[in-house]
Amino acid sequence: MNRTRIVAGNWKMNKSYEEGRDLAKAIAENLQPSETVVVLAPPFIHLRGVAAIAEGVSNLHVAAQNCHQETSGAYTGEISAPMVRSTGAEYVILGHSERRQYFGEDGPLLAKKVKAALAAGLKPIFCCGEPLEIREAGTHVALVVEQLEASVFDLSPEDFAKVVIAYEPVWAIGTGRTASPEQAQDMHKEIRDAIAKKYGRDLAQQTSILYGGSCKASNAPELFSQPDVDGGLIGGASLDAKEFMAIIGSFPA
Ligand code: 13P
Repeated sequence: MNRTRIVAGNWKMNKSYEEGRDLAKAIAENLQPSETVVVLAPPFIHLRGVAAIAEGVSNLHVAAQNCHQETSGAYTGEISAPMVRSTGAEYVILGHSERRQYFGEDGPLLAKKVKAALAAGLKPIFCCGEPLEIREAGTHVALVVEQLEASVFDLSPEDFAKVVIAYEPVWAIGTGRTASPEQAQDMHKEIRDAIAKKYGRDLAQQTSILYGGSCKASNAPELFSQPDVDGGLIGGASLDAKEFMAIIGSFPA
């Protein structure tokens, strides 16, 4: 099986423009050519600068952390998918729990954003994941499958093939409390099974499913060695070049 391995760094609302360029340069200069796709997701204002740094590095790519669902118009302060694409970025993170929680983004809105991204030629990194109370109630699989159904399962197979899934349990994000490799594997398998049910086994086997939530260099090797974990969406640990490089090098040989 040759699914694409991906390590994506979600910088969230961190780094000045200069600091962001320095971080991107440190990664670009040290990244070895490999099959692993590395994606940097800086704030919007850094996109063009980071994309220019990534241009000469074949396995280094750039993502936005969000985009608007409309292509243009009177939406003060917003950024559209075609604008993101015009910077050289190739991916966009959509459905992050922080967008759901703090900015009220829900399944139907995210479905529109996913379609806008695809129409602009961007590959969505679609996030799903349950809050702690849902995990404790034991309904986490049902919730994650609902999140997929609400926003990406109405895509054509051709479009779904461009989507990367990121499972990010909310209770593990920024808390230092990571999902155990078994918890990650169990959910990733459930997600892959749900994709297989909707799109068939072949497409499910080709879909990259990333883990996110307090993933760092010390726990990445165990997480990335799980059969259904195809890489990571990294928050805090992506802000340090050395730590992030170590995570990129954490796949089993
Ligand atoms: P942390 O790695 O800081 O827990 O954040 C994970 C995340 O939200 C990545 O999108």
